[in-house]
Amino acid sequence: MHHHTVVVPIVVAVFLQASALAATARVRRADADLTFAETVYARLSGACRALIDLSYNTMTDQNYLIKTLKIVQLDGNSMKMFPINEAYVNLTKPRMFDISKQTKIIIHGYKDHSQSAVPIELAKAYNEKKIFNVLLLDAEEIMNKRYMTCVHNTRLMGKRLANLLANLENFGANAEDFHLLGISLGAHVAGWAGKYFRQYKGHSLGRITGLDPAGPCFSHAYSDQRLDKTDAKYVDVVHSNRLVQGIIESLGHADFYVNGGGPNQPGCFMPSCSHLRAAEVYTESVMTPKSFVGIRCQSWKHFQVNACEKDTYAVMGYGSSTTTRGEYYLRTMGRPPYGLGMDGTKNSDSSVDDWVTRTLNIP
Ligand SMILES: *[C@@H]1O[C@H](CO)[C@@H](O)[C@H](O)[C@H]1NC(C)=O
Repeated sequence: MHHHTVVVPIVVAVFLQASALAATARVRRADADLTFAETVYARLSGACRALIDLSYNTMTDQNYLIKTLKIVQLDGNSMKMFPINEAYVNLTKPRMFDISKQTKIIIHGYKDHSQSAVPIELAKAYNEKKIFNVLLLDAEEIMNKRYMTCVHNTRLMGKRLANLLANLENFGANAEDFHLLGISLGAHVAGWAGKYFRQYKGHSLGRITGLDPAGPCFSHAYSDQRLDKTDAKYVDVVHSNRLVQGIIESLGHADFYVNGGGPNQPGCFMPSCSHLRAAEVYTESVMTPKSFVGIRCQSWKHFQVNACEKDTYAVMGYGSSTTTRGEYYLRTMGRPPYGLGMDGTKNSDSSVDDWVTRTLNIP
């Protein structure tokens, strides 16, 4: 390959990245000019993909990395961890994996691991119910590389997971009973798992939940490159840090925009706090079903002036109906318990006061 064919896209990418950052800063300050930022983001995702494709040739073989994937199983008070290559043999031993139960599989995000607070709390909440098989995918070694390398590897991780799920289905489990919950970059791993599972088996996984799916390199990418509603029978997405770490656009059958989807969440100062809020509210929904209700709405601006579709409500999270379609908006509190039930479907001036009070830490 000639040098200039490599250098030109890199220069373009760096330029786009700089303009995207400038645009994001502007948007966060003024909450305006979204379309300009979105246009920049679309180009940035394209440039990002081009860079990944270019650097892919120079990447060392990633297959050894995939062997570092682990499956963690939570069952009552016991927690077991298996290398992914041994997971099938271990899970299909007696009293390990109940094929008559639904299976929840939690996938953590970038620079994270399965035992950190956000993924493990979600797994524990499901484990408490005693009616699910609860698994976590641990990709600590893979998710600690450069971001672009991780973006590239979401595909390989998803493929490996799909392979395990296909084997578990051969063992007697039902594809409809598999529910993948992906946090941030993990949401796109879940998407790839859904795509590969369908390719292997000719039918889809039951459900994928995207918890603020990662935005950089994915916003406005083609649907075959990221989590998409075609990846499972029901795909529900919670948005909490749009335009910064979270994806910009709607991806699922149902998309829930918590406090407008961000970029900022009440009670948060850092983008990562807002980004993880999606998973935190979801965990609360498992512990307290129906504490989050969204109203179908055109936009957050419509929500703020109480101009949403009348009486079109949907439960978010644990109790979500798989027939839910469209975009839903809701308010939450700035700290746990976050859920406001039906009160969260309306804007009210007192909530703004509350938000200000909490954000500024006024007792
Ligand atoms: C998984 O199965 C292998 C092979 O039977 C066994 O040696 C290993 O101890 C098992 N791992 C766990 C954590 O139970």
